[in-house]
Amino acid sequence: MDARGAVAVWGAGGRVGRELLSALAAHPTLRLGLAVGRAQDPRDPALRAALAGCVGVVDFSLPEAQPALLSALDALAAEGRALPLVTGVTGLDAAGWGALEARARRAPTLHAANFSLGVALLARLTAQASRALGPSFDVEVFELHHRQKRDAPSGTALHLARAAAEGRGGSVSDAPTPLPRDPALVHVSAGRGGQEVGEHTVFFLGEAERLELTHRAASRAVFAHGALRALDWLRARPAGALWGLGDLLDDLLGGAAGAPRGP
Ligand SMILES: NC(=O)c1ccc[n+]([C@@H]2O[C@H](COP(=O)([O-])OP(=O)(O)OC[C@H]3O[C@@H](n4cnc5c(N)ncnc54)[C@H](OP(=O)(O)O)[C@@H]3O)[C@@H](O)[C@H]2O)c1
Repeated sequence: MDARGAVAVWGAGGRVGRELLSALAAHPTLRLGLAVGRAQDPRDPALRAALAGCVGVVDFSLPEAQPALLSALDALAAEGRALPLVTGVTGLDAAGWGALEARARRAPTLHAANFSLGVALLARLTAQASRALGPSFDVEVFELHHRQKRDAPSGTALHLARAAAEGRGGSVSDAPTPLPRDPALVHVSAGRGGQEVGEHTVFFLGEAERLELTHRAASRAVFAHGALRALDWLRARPAGALWGLGDLLDDLLGGAAGAPRGP
């Protein structure tokens, strides 16, 4: 008998979804329990029964899939089975964020705009560098992704820009850089083309020197492995607020992840 925990994958036929299926096939503690795509109806009783047998959900579908996913999870929670949810969907609107945050108050929920632990660490380093270098260094965040990616700038680029802005008490903008440049403004821009999996660079531009912090994803497997690691971690965490990958990083760095700090 397979003792590994069954996982429901939302968006299983997608680019990241397919990586999740491969990663689950060889995972030591988790296995595939249910694969859901656009064709399945989460209200279907057979799907509901399969979902109830899962230890958690990993969602890499699209924002429009979220209401049906959350209501299927709410229905299960009402029966006493509150499943942990790990979601990597980006491009959520205000209503989508509101629904996810409300869900996080009822059951363990983790969102990350990028499931690479390398990117989570990059956000930490970005905040530290921004604070240390101060306003004499302008900050530009640039990201490059494949031509199919819908949202621009990426959620990760915005997350990095917010980390840089927090580090110096500034703000974030993706509008063309207004001149003269405001040193408190962290500017974000995006490029789209080819099959780039995802590259993010934070530039710190000083008078006579330049620091670049870059992360390059080599394949989408990085997101699948990170999301499954996050689910394993989330299974032992309470509800309360939206968890983020930074909370998992706190654990790895030896801090206590007592209260969620968000994505
Ligand atoms: N957080 C991260 O680390 C990270 C990394 C990469 C991507 N992403 C984000 O993850 C999401 C998926 O990315 P992707 O590149 O894998 O996209 P994709 O290839 O377009 O896959 C999306 C999948 O969602 C499925 N889907 C659409 N509507 C659905 C519904 N109503 N119910 C269930 N499934 C539905 C699609 O099913 P069909 O195949 O049937 O159309 C498709 O398989 C995007 O929001 C992307 O920006 C996040």
